[in-house]
Amino acid sequence: ALRRAGNIHWQHLDVDKTARARIKGQKPRVLWFTGLSGSGKSTIANLVDKRLHGLGYHTFILDGDNVRHGLNKDLGFTDEDRVENIRRVAEVAKLMADAGLIVLVSFISPFRAERRMARELFAPGEFVEVFIDTPLAVAEERDVKGLYAKARAGQLRNFTGIDSPYEIPEAAELQLDTVSDPAEHLAQRVIDFLLD
Ligand code: PPS
Repeated sequence: ALRRAGNIHWQHLDVDKTARARIKGQKPRVLWFTGLSGSGKSTIANLVDKRLHGLGYHTFILDGDNVRHGLNKDLGFTDEDRVENIRRVAEVAKLMADAGLIVLVSFISPFRAERRMARELFAPGEFVEVFIDTPLAVAEERDVKGLYAKARAGQLRNFTGIDSPYEIPEAAELQLDTVSDPAEHLAQRVIDFLLD
């Protein structure tokens, strides 16, 4: 902590994020999708992205599986690594919001404290937490990637919902129930919230 910002000073830049967003006709936003593995985060984020893009908005998706192939390929799934994973992606989302973009972030982000930390990087109203509310039993039943089966068989440690916690959001701007509603409908709810 002592090293941090020791002789480093903040450089003021004249073009701010509002100005950068304005030439795109939009406001910077971060849509933060959180939920269990296999809950449908990426599916819904993709649908939202496609529709916003189609409406002419400048968007970008940060997806856990993809970011872990590059920027965060040094990180695993211990609590400590997940915390660092989310810290980095929150900072990247902030850079992208500073560039004027609408950023869709799709990570399990299982810990309340890190989601709060992410939220606090942004101005009021800029950060929209979207809880993809899929019960463990349903995500496990779908098991699209076969990871729940591996975790149950003891071949995969620290798996979210099995032997690593997921802390349910208490004050998400949106809570999407994937059991009772199709993904297309849920994606539209996110768009409606955003454009309201
Ligand atoms: S986290 O908790 O936010 O740091 O996780 P994230 O970066 O979103 O990565 C989740 C994806 O990694 C795969 N995977 C695991 N998930 C949870 N626990 C363990 N141990 C694990 N190992 C690999 C899994 O495919 C997750 O993808 P999604 O899209 O969430 O199903």
